Amino acid sequence: MLTISVLKESVDGEKRVALVPESVKRLAKQGISILVQEGAGVEAGFRPSDYEAAGAAIVSNYDELLNDGNVFLKVQVVCLQDGMLDLVDPLKKGSIIIGFMSPFKYIQNIQSLADREITTFSMELVPRISRAQRMDALSAMSSAAGYKAVLLAGSTLNKFFPLMMTAAGTISPANVLVIGAGVAGLQAIATAKRLGARVKAFDTRPIVKEQVESLGAEFISLETSDEAQTSSGYAEEMSEDFYQHEHAIIGEHLSTTDAVITTAQIFGKRAPLLITEEMVQSMRFGSVIVDLAAEQGGNCELTVPGKNVERHGVNILSPLDLPSSLSYHTSEMFSRNVTALLIEMLDAGELNIDLDDEVVSGTILTHEGKVLNQHVIDLLDREKEEN
Ligand code: NAI
Repeated sequence: MLTISVLKESVDGEKRVALVPESVKRLAKQGISILVQEGAGVEAGFRPSDYEAAGAAIVSNYDELLNDGNVFLKVQVVCLQDGMLDLVDPLKKGSIIIGFMSPFKYIQNIQSLADREITTFSMELVPRISRAQRMDALSAMSSAAGYKAVLLAGSTLNKFFPLMMTAAGTISPANVLVIGAGVAGLQAIATAKRLGARVKAFDTRPIVKEQVESLGAEFISLETSDEAQTSSGYAEEMSEDFYQHEHAIIGEHLSTTDAVITTAQIFGKRAPLLITEEMVQSMRFGSVIVDLAAEQGGNCELTVPGKNVERHGVNILSPLDLPSSLSYHTSEMFSRNVTALLIEMLDAGELNIDLDDEVVSGTILTHEGKVLNQHVIDLLDREKEEN
């Protein structure tokens, strides 16, 4: 019988939980038994009694949780990081782990999981196709980050966002520039508009122009082509000449911008560098940049990942944990994504891992002793060649 163990998060500051009581109820109805590690979910606002009422059992003994479960859920699966490999040793062969695996960061760890015959699903890899939208955890988290980035910019900026008619006269609205109009960028645009700012946005994919305009923002056009986008909907890396042209266009807008939200990313690569130090110097004293791409190296040359710094009178914020700061709702979203994936695979009370299914094959990392993700395989091969 399928038993799901929900593990407490172990990364410092991580407040989310992989399964919320609402999803426990849904899975329990399918005959699945659910164990929740004592303390899991508390920081996201879910009490042990909420889990019990939904049909889960709270387990304080970690060995018991590992012994009795066959599917393990965790938001940030970093059990192999920093000499913590022994954490997976008690898992039986064939156990399944589902969560954010950071697959391209811990390449050797992914190989170790395969060697231990543990099946892993990396929620970062859910393909961005219509059928998988309900499972797309990365988009859910990006959307939360785009929203929170604007709130941070608003609370850091020494100006109002909306136009204000006051007894002391009219206050003009803040100018916000969003670079990259993917999932996070579109949510940032929508949030800044709701707060009353004047919003402009850039993207290399001309296809997003309509979406930007439908949110009431101005789309700043760059000369690109359809080749700016891969078949899976992600941005392509552009030429050096293109980036120079883009720097010039962004530069034209920066001196009149109060808050910049940067979200430009190329899947699996370093984020493109779009704001140089010289460009920061051209910005108004007291203005703000929130660089969401910090984890991939940042879109701004002066970004210090995870830190807020002030350079040339400009505040540059590069938070790495925005989804965790909205832990109630982001846990709910992640939990729904994972539940949708589980239900997709569920067949007569067991998980049927069908590698011919596009969603399963796109998301699975390791199975039956093998690494199955082509990008990870290529990286491992490259590492072998170099050594
Ligand atoms: P996405 O792939 O949906 O959107 C990225 C957008 O950037 C695409 O529309 C793409 O066309 C655009 N882009 C690429 N190169 C560009 C360029 N040179 N100029 C202008 N636009 C360009 O990505 P998503 O999901 O919106 O994520 C955005 C960023 O936010 C990522 O770096 C992600 O890691 C980060 N993020 C940060 C979080 C945090 O807590 N700091 C949480 C979640 C996401």
